[in-house]
Amino acid sequence: MSVLEISDLITAVEPDSGHRLPVRRAEVIGRLRESGDERAARIVARLPVDADGVLDPCAVDRLLIGVHTELQRLSEELRVGERLVHLLGPLFAAIRAAGAERGPYRLVDVGCGLGYLLRWLAATDALGPDVELVGVDLSAALVGEADRLARAEGLNCRFVHGNAFDLPQAATVYVSTGVLHHFSDPALAEFFQAQAASPAQAFCHFDIAATPLAPIGAWMFHRARMRHPLGRHDGVVSALRAHSDEALLRAATVPGIRALLYDPRGTANPFCTTVRPIIGLRPPLEGSFRQAFGRSGRRLVGQDQLTEPAR
Ligand SMILES: C[S@@+](CC[C@H](N)C(=O)[O-])C[C@H]1O[C@@H](n2cnc3c(N)ncnc32)[C@H](O)[C@@H]1O
Repeated sequence: MSVLEISDLITAVEPDSGHRLPVRRAEVIGRLRESGDERAARIVARLPVDADGVLDPCAVDRLLIGVHTELQRLSEELRVGERLVHLLGPLFAAIRAAGAERGPYRLVDVGCGLGYLLRWLAATDALGPDVELVGVDLSAALVGEADRLARAEGLNCRFVHGNAFDLPQAATVYVSTGVLHHFSDPALAEFFQAQAASPAQAFCHFDIAATPLAPIGAWMFHRARMRHPLGRHDGVVSALRAHSDEALLRAATVPGIRALLYDPRGTANPFCTTVRPIIGLRPPLEGSFRQAFGRSGRRLVGQDQLTEPAR
C-alpha cells in the first residue's frame, strides 16, 4: 500500500532556507504510480502546470492553504489545544520552579502550518504572559496565512518562515502537531537529536496514534469533514505512516533527554486514542513535572516501562 502523501511531493524547499524549488508534475505522477497509488496520481494530474510541466506554485499554495484550513477542524474536534495545555502547564511550572532559565520563555511550534495551535494558545492566554509564542514552517504560503489570521484576530503570537532549528533565538520548549509521521526513521532520530543538542528544556509533539483503527478512523473523519480529494487521500496515508509507540520512544530517548509517552497503546482505549504526545525533558525536571502533573503522571511511560509489542 502506498505511503506517499501528495502534499509532501507537490512542494519542495531547500531544507535550510525554506527556499522554494520547482516540482515537475510528471515526476510526481511517476512516483505515485510506482508506489501503486493510481488514485493519487489522478489527483495530481489535475493540477495546473506551466509550459515546462512545472506545477503552478500559486495553485499549489492555494490548494495547501485550503486543505490545511479544513485540517484545522481535526485540531478543534480533537481538542489538541486543551490537551497540549494539560501537559505544558505542568511542564512550564517545572521549568519556572527549576529557575535555571528566567522568562520570558519561548514556545516554538515546529511545522506550524496555519498556526491554529498558537493562535488558540494566544486567544486563550493559556500559558501565561511570560511565554512567547513562535510558529515556524518551511512553507512560506502557510506561514503567511497564519500571520494574516493572527493579525486579523489581534493575537499576540508570531510566525516565521524557515527551518525551526535555525532560529536566531533558542526555544525553551518545542511542540508540534501532525508533523512526526512525515519523517522517515532516520529523519525522526535527527529531529529529536537536534532538540537535545539545542538549549531547549523540553519538547511535546502530538501525532496520530498508530493503532489498528487509525486508518479507518482517519478515512471516516476525512470523508465526513474534508472536501478536497488531496486532503482525504493524505489523511488516510498519514494514519498508515504513523510511528509506533516503540519507534517514537526509541528515537526520542537520546542523551540529555528523558522521553515519555502519554497514554501509550495498550493502556488507553483504542477507540478514543486518536493522537497522543511524545514528551522529552531535561532529566532534572522530571520530578517537579510529575509532581505538578499529579495523578495523570501515571499515564506517562518511558522506554524502560513500555511492555506492548510493536504493531
Ligand atoms: C502536515 S503539516 C502540519 C501543519 C500543522 N502543524 C497542523 O497541524 O495543521 C507539516 C508541516 O511541517 C513543516 N515542517 C517540517 N519540518 C519542519 C522544520 N524543520 N521546520 C519548519 N517546518 C517544518 C512542513 O513544511 C509542513 O508544512
